[in-house]
Amino acid sequence: NNIIKVGLLGCGTVGTGVLKVLSQNMDEITPRVGAKLVVSHVLVRNLDKKREYADAVKFTDNINDILEDPEIKIVIELLGGLHPAREYMIQAMQAGKNIVTANKDVVAQFGKDMFDTAEANNVDFMFEASVAGGIPIITPLKQCLTANKITEVIGIVNGTTNYMLTKMSEENASYDAVLKDAQEKGYAEADPTADVEGLDAARKTAILASIAFNNRVSLNKVSTEGITHITPQDIAYAKELGYTIKLLSIAREDEKGIDVRVHPALLPQNHPLAFVRNEFNAIFVRGNVVGDTMFYGKGAGQLPTASAVVADVIDVARDIVKNRYGRIRCTCYEHKKFCPIEK
Ligand code: NAP
Ligand code: HSE
Repeated sequence: NNIIKVGLLGCGTVGTGVLKVLSQNMDEITPRVGAKLVVSHVLVRNLDKKREYADAVKFTDNINDILEDPEIKIVIELLGGLHPAREYMIQAMQAGKNIVTANKDVVAQFGKDMFDTAEANNVDFMFEASVAGGIPIITPLKQCLTANKITEVIGIVNGTTNYMLTKMSEENASYDAVLKDAQEKGYAEADPTADVEGLDAARKTAILASIAFNNRVSLNKVSTEGITHITPQDIAYAKELGYTIKLLSIAREDEKGIDVRVHPALLPQNHPLAFVRNEFNAIFVRGNVVGDTMFYGKGAGQLPTASAVVADVIDVARDIVKNRYGRIRCTCYEHKKFCPIEK
């Protein structure tokens, strides 16, 4: 009976990707975990939609099917938005379930509540996929780079706008057509205003800065400007002068404090970030002992994002198998309060 039951909330772009990854890579994943991961229930809004994997999992529109099943040890939240995602995650943790989420809205605005609830209920709260899709960045910041004082985290963290700016610059595509294209490819948020107005990047910037600087950086501290005012003329002039327009996420800490911003910027065409095209993201992290590091890959899309989600699920499942259930992993928002090393 080496099975770990998982409940999935949401079966849109990323939720479907998770089912795909778990089924496609089951032979690799099962021995790595030491148990078979079985998604038993999937919560959706509309039970009439035709779904992939309808034979393999049970679709439900009742959250209690997941919350009240004591055998479900991990809940993956991929609904998006603040509500009811936040409430469902809290209820699931109170029911003793570990959480894996890609929800940057909830992490950026209610991260502290989530970590408090996780600690109080001795469960894990994992969110690697909430920033930069398939690129490992949360775990590297929390673990691999934790020996450093980090002074800068700078990059491109929104796939939709990077895709749009690339197509507008390289193919003279119109703003509306390329936004529609990004939505069809599954890169954009359910409400793409968050992408084009910079809010999605601002949420990610707040999360990255909080972890990198061991300080709670709230979303309203991130000065935010999106790409809605960028015209084809701006792009053409920039090109003529040897520049590329990119939507940058900037987080810096120095003796004056923390500076967090999202805005379009002119980059020389030979700047490393100018080569980051389409839905790809890239993040530079500067640490005082490691120097400069760069993380690059697909920042949005079904399978890259599912890759990060499933990695978190595997991590939690391994702990369950090894009986290290509920290990506290904290280095971020409330480091001093939570970190077992400092207690
Ligand atoms: P999506 O395609 O819009 O899918 C959302 C899913 O959640 C749908 O299956 C929907 O049900 C279900 N849902 C929404 N509200 C619900 C409710 N109140 N009750 C029950 N089910 C509900 O979204 P997505 O693109 O997969 O994104 C999911 C999450 O991942 C978001 O937090 C997003 O920010 C994050 N993320 C996305 C990407 C990406 O590339 N797309 C990358 C990184 C992170 P129906 O199918 O019945 O409508
Ligand atoms: N809408 C987001 C983006 C999804 O385009 O980057 C990945 O977080």
